[in-house]
Amino acid sequence: MKVTRVVAGAAVAAAVLVSLNATGAPAAPVASVPAVPGAILQESATQVAADSKTLRELAKRTGMKIGTAVDMSALANDATYNDKVATEFNSVTAENVMKWSEIEPTRGVLNFAPADQLVAYAKANGQSVRGHTLLWHNQLPTWLTDGVASGDIDATELRQILKQHVFDVAGHFRGKIYQWDVVNEVIDDNAQLRDTIWLQKLGPGYIADMFRWAHQADPKAKLYINDYNVEGLNAKADAYYALVQQLKADRVPIHGFGMQGHLGVQFGFDGRALQNVQRFEALGLETSFTEVDVRMVMPPDNPKLQAQANGYGILLRACLLAKRCTSFTVWGFTDKYSWVPGVFTGQGAANLLDENYGQKPAYQTVSQTLALAG
Ligand code: XIL
Repeated sequence: MKVTRVVAGAAVAAAVLVSLNATGAPAAPVASVPAVPGAILQESATQVAADSKTLRELAKRTGMKIGTAVDMSALANDATYNDKVATEFNSVTAENVMKWSEIEPTRGVLNFAPADQLVAYAKANGQSVRGHTLLWHNQLPTWLTDGVASGDIDATELRQILKQHVFDVAGHFRGKIYQWDVVNEVIDDNAQLRDTIWLQKLGPGYIADMFRWAHQADPKAKLYINDYNVEGLNAKADAYYALVQQLKADRVPIHGFGMQGHLGVQFGFDGRALQNVQRFEALGLETSFTEVDVRMVMPPDNPKLQAQANGYGILLRACLLAKRCTSFTVWGFTDKYSWVPGVFTGQGAANLLDENYGQKPAYQTVSQTLALAG
């Protein structure tokens, strides 16, 4: 089979349309190509490739999974949403239903039903599942936070409860999750270990404990440390680098560095995402972008939407250019169900598709970047 595609690296200098044979080796330039400028040729060819395929189809040949967070009520009640999760993505993350408050709202009573539904949906659609998350400081059950606050649950018991939680949850999904966010947001914006009940009661060793327990509970899952504001080179990302170095030195089973990728056009973007990814890969980790969205101060306009597309592009290119960036997950794909307006007052429009599932410039950028990379 002959595949016609464009060589991405040649874009700026002398873009040529080449035809690749089945082995991927460039053949002679296509004779019938009209003599028009290379840049135009490239754009149109990419456009055609991107337009006719879903992100999932385009990502297939890149070796990188393309994922989305899934809102379970939208999945159940909105047929368009449901269809797009299946057709546009080959990886899914539970936006909420694997979090502790959802799984164990009452102590000792585990409710896996919604998360099991997602796992079944993924299986039916040939998708992989990212697990999110075994430890966080938010969305904890009130019996747990109240118990700690009142002193009913002391440090020894808390450690036992946490260990049990890992074996309950990672054990339940054993073999069905390809990547687990084992700990989420454990470093704060001052690049210090975050001041949470976990650090206060258990000390810094809880992080290594979490990875060791998770590895016992699900030995095949890739175990991730995950956070926001670590997509470029900054003090917080440096703190993660040092932490991972220490964990590796201590032979802790940690396999991946997850960069959430919650960006905002009003903050600008750090163009050094690839360097950051590469330094973590040099430590022996794989990497992933796990929760990408790019918000803006409302209302959207063309410059903001173009800037947004650029933000998505920076992270996606970093992933595609890196050696071991295994998945690129967006935190929802339509503005219809985004978490952003509820949390960041006056901001929104953070996703690839608008509220009516219309494609925004960011979708075009993601699509064309995948078309070029594949
Ligand atoms: C958010 C969900 O999108 C919301 O629906 C929920 O109310 C709060 O959590 N970082 C994370 C995610 O790791 O779990 C968060 O998800 C967004 C920020």
